[in-house]
Amino acid sequence: MIGVDHLRLGWAFARSLASYELGGSARPFSATFSVTNRCNLRCRYCNTPFLDPHHLNLDEIAVLFRKLKRLGVVRLGLAGGEPLVREDLGDIVALAKAQGFWISLNSNLNLYRRAEALFDDVSLVFTSLDGTAGHHRESRGDKSLHGTLDAIRSLRARRIPVVAICVVDTHNLDDTDYLLALAIELDIRIHFQPRCSDTEIVRGAYADDIDNATLRAFWHGLRERRAAGARIASTTLYLDHLGAWADFRQAAIAAPRTRCAAGVGFFYIDPQGNAFPCAYTKGKVPAINLLRDDWRGPRTGAAPCTDCAVGPMVEFNTLFRHPLRAVVDAAGSYATVRR
Ligand SMILES: C[S@@+](CC[C@H](N)C(=O)[O-])C[C@H]1O[C@@H](n2cnc3c(N)ncnc32)[C@H](O)[C@@H]1O
Ligand code: SF4
Repeated sequence: MIGVDHLRLGWAFARSLASYELGGSARPFSATFSVTNRCNLRCRYCNTPFLDPHHLNLDEIAVLFRKLKRLGVVRLGLAGGEPLVREDLGDIVALAKAQGFWISLNSNLNLYRRAEALFDDVSLVFTSLDGTAGHHRESRGDKSLHGTLDAIRSLRARRIPVVAICVVDTHNLDDTDYLLALAIELDIRIHFQPRCSDTEIVRGAYADDIDNATLRAFWHGLRERRAAGARIASTTLYLDHLGAWADFRQAAIAAPRTRCAAGVGFFYIDPQGNAFPCAYTKGKVPAINLLRDDWRGPRTGAAPCTDCAVGPMVEFNTLFRHPLRAVVDAAGSYATVRR
């Protein structure tokens, strides 16, 4: 069912798309704001907890949110690190709500019970499930599932949509059946994303001897499972893109005749207020600090890449590259209104 939220998102996206198509000024409909680099876990593929622990205070975040609103942002992703380690996260969500943003929140949900109330204002929760309990703990540590499944059940009982992200590595390629059965039991969807490497916010990489053909077959298989009705959030266009990715050891490439909408249609802000076209480009292009300056889009010629296999960015780019098909596809997966 189409709700008011869908209409506001659709209108903001249409303006972003027009800017992207016509070469206009940056008009991002979506911003991802990492509220902190701090985290209660140390997942083996993530570097965020080892980055600068300082973050903006509430007054600074209020300034930032006003600026995002003026820029035309409607969709606000709150991410981290682990957002729930911030005791003022409820205040941050309230500030975002006061600006009228459609809010998603990424969290491992280990600390859900101490912050349940703030989820009332969250339209979509992303969490992390990396496969069987054994494989999940192998990637994310022994304590990483504490409270997560109970929190998901509680969120679903409150009718709050949940998508669990599975980071696809080589040890969990056979866990699809397990995760999709769990998705039915929990009434959630699963978004699969390749292990990302070669950027500040991640660590490690696929092994040098990975078999790219096996990985491509994995993504093709997911596409078939999705077509057969499996509870996969990842869109068909996204799965096609990854099913054709040449070498998963390269998270991003400079591809001729390919454009990326990062910085124009969507962008990323780190915990100190530094803005980048996307999380992958943090540390690779000059930052614009949004407390001091305005976002004017990516600097011409500064982008290190034009195409990638970085989960969220592939989904965003399919919206801009194939708007009609992607919007229909994504509306049922991510832009969910409470059911
Ligand atoms: C950075 S976390 C932040 C939210 C929260 N702390 C969590 O883990 O769910 C956002 C998502 O990125 C995923 N992630 C972290 N490092 C990654 C990597 N190297 N490649 C792909 N995804 C990664 C995490 O598993 C998580 O689902
Ligand atoms: S993936 Fe999430 S839970 Fe794991 S270390 Fe990174 S921010 Fe923390």
